[in-house]
Amino acid sequence: MSYNLLKGKKGIIFGALDENSIAWKTAERVHEEGGTFVLSNAPIALRMGQIDELAKKTGSEVIAADATSEEDLQNLVSKSIDILGGKLDFVLHSIGMSVNVRKGRAYSDENYDFTTKGWDISALSFHKVLQTIHKADAMNEWGSIVALTYMAAQRVFPDYNDMADNKAYLESVARSFGYFFGKEKKVRVNTISQSPTATTAGQGVKGFDGFINYAEKMSPLGNATALECADYTVTLFSDLTKKVTMQNLFHDGGFSNTGVSQEVIEQFAK
Ligand SMILES: NC(=O)c1ccc[n+]([C@@H]2O[C@H](COP(=O)([O-])OP(=O)(O)OC[C@H]3O[C@@H](n4cnc5c(N)ncnc54)[C@H](O)[C@@H]3O)[C@@H](O)[C@H]2O)c1
Repeated sequence: MSYNLLKGKKGIIFGALDENSIAWKTAERVHEEGGTFVLSNAPIALRMGQIDELAKKTGSEVIAADATSEEDLQNLVSKSIDILGGKLDFVLHSIGMSVNVRKGRAYSDENYDFTTKGWDISALSFHKVLQTIHKADAMNEWGSIVALTYMAAQRVFPDYNDMADNKAYLESVARSFGYFFGKEKKVRVNTISQSPTATTAGQGVKGFDGFINYAEKMSPLGNATALECADYTVTLFSDLTKKVTMQNLFHDGGFSNTGVSQEVIEQFAK
């Protein structure tokens, strides 16, 4: 169902790799709600993914940008304003990658070059995106910027590895930059803490199947899907949430506030 919540709004969506990506579903929903946008991803992802299909479907242009490169981000922001015909109303940062996870290095055996690279991609890139947009004065007043995160920033999930630290940093950047963006530009900055979701990034985490099934059993409403996350993001991009800023918003079916569920107790009952 569409409510025209984003009619006339313009933005940038980072991180749509394939149809499972949270950013892909968000692009589809934003399009349905009347928003227009530029799609962006790393050059290698553009070669390997299916983003052109999404661009066609949503009438969008695609601009390559490595989110760790300030030069790429400056180019992306200025070109997007030209293409869209004005400043931005919304931005989605849906980017994450841990080299330690990819290479099977445990949290207690990190390769720090991998750690630094993963932090740059998954966490510092959000600061780079915000700073580039802020310096270029590229957001309209009452615009909204969202990044995606996971509850491992607050609690230990052993196999989430160094991504836990990256997410803690990312959430802190949203708060800190949210202050300056709010004061100076009336722009809000938030993170959505999403349930485990079967995407390329999600499934890269060791033991993901156990992880997602456990969360499903622990959440009173069940896990939130990628499409539901897209719906939630649409509300945060809309004018209905103008005073929500500097928040980490749990979108997880109640998982984060559940100590234990009946289903999980039954697994352990003798
Ligand atoms: N899947 C989950 O279980 C889950 C749960 C909570 C939060 N998240 C977060 O959601 C976000 C999106 O992930 P997803 O699950 O949709 O997986 P995904 O693999 O579809 O998306 C990750 C994206 O990051 C992009 N990326 C990697 N390096 C980049 C770079 N240098 N520059 C620009 N883009 C780059 C990839 O190309 C890809 O499009 C991530 O921040 C992830 O941590 C995912």
